[in-house]
Amino acid sequence: MILLYMSEVSDVMNTEIVELNEQNIDIEKLMRAAKIIVNLGTVVLPTETVYGLGANALSSTAVKKIFLAKGRPSDNPLIVHVCSVDMMEDLLSEPLDLRAKKLIEAFWPGPLTLVFKRSDKVPVEVCANLDTVAIRMPDHPIALKLIELANVPIAAPSANVSGKPSPTMAEHVIQDMNGRVDMIISADRSRIGVESTVLDISSPKAVVLRPGGVTLEQLQEVLGNDGVMLDNMINGVVDKPRSPGMKYKHYAPNAPLQIVRGNKENILSYIKDKIEKASSAELIGVLCSDETQSEYQGAHVISIGSAHRLDQGASNLFAVLREFDQIGVDMIFAEAFAEDEMGLALMNRLKKAAGFNIVDV
Ligand code: TXA
Ligand code: MG
Repeated sequence: MILLYMSEVSDVMNTEIVELNEQNIDIEKLMRAAKIIVNLGTVVLPTETVYGLGANALSSTAVKKIFLAKGRPSDNPLIVHVCSVDMMEDLLSEPLDLRAKKLIEAFWPGPLTLVFKRSDKVPVEVCANLDTVAIRMPDHPIALKLIELANVPIAAPSANVSGKPSPTMAEHVIQDMNGRVDMIISADRSRIGVESTVLDISSPKAVVLRPGGVTLEQLQEVLGNDGVMLDNMINGVVDKPRSPGMKYKHYAPNAPLQIVRGNKENILSYIKDKIEKASSAELIGVLCSDETQSEYQGAHVISIGSAHRLDQGASNLFAVLREFDQIGVDMIFAEAFAEDEMGLALMNRLKKAAGFNIVDV
């Protein structure tokens, strides 16, 4: 049975907001956060990808509070965050093989989540009853220190209300989570700005379940071109999803979003035509790059950065989607971007935000 945790009922907690500087961490303040984790409460923590909503990964009681705060369906498993390789030993059913060791050596700490066969120490809530567990070591001094002080692995999904864009800035977290968690650690903007890559290595073929901060090209360098493949779901092919999170609508702004794909001239004329034909009461949003920003008039136009720096574009995307909500546009047209390197993760999130509404022009 799939439980839908209702987020509306939990808007009543007294949330402590603590500011921390990652260059000079106030350990006393961080100790308070660690105590909350130990006492089975919830803490929003910064990571290099996006802010996470953390709780003790070894406790069902604690982990249920995450689902409640987010309004997250119970069949969508969580990522467990560790501060050392030793810390995950108990969570796995078998010792690390050579492939896992190579990946850990190359990418941890960092934005790569690895899916392993799990031991029975992992609460069923964390892995949503699957026989695997997803683990990563975040590359962020506050996150690592918090896990170390609490001395338990921390389960943490992105700290947004379910279905909304992931939070990359403390203000996003406060919008979504104030009143729903025990503590929010407010720190700098997330450096990578898009979630970790989820790589399933629980079977002989390594499969990317979600593209993210580590690119397919980087994984191929370590595993070889034939050593890793992309899951079909990434392009919206609805099969039986191997990563339950992939079937849900995600990152959705309030207004409908359409992706416009094709050559540059056709994209420009399609979107310009839409702006022209909109009624005077309708505000059109356009998501584009620096190179085309000046082409659009009479709309609310936001660039995600240069089309030649899609790593920066990916890190801006979630904040841009939230900005369209704040402006209150009625419809958003987004230019499609190249789907290699960080463009793959960027386009994956954009397609999900659009509910796979893509027009080829
Ligand atoms: O960068 C990140 O990964 C961030 C930060 C906070 O670490 N976390 C994050 O968590 O994005 P969340 O819950 O928003 O996304 C977790 C993804 C979901 O797509 C989920 O289905 C998948 O990981 N996942 C978790 N456990 C899994 C498992 N055992 N097998 C397959 N997929 C799994
Ligand atoms: Mg998420």
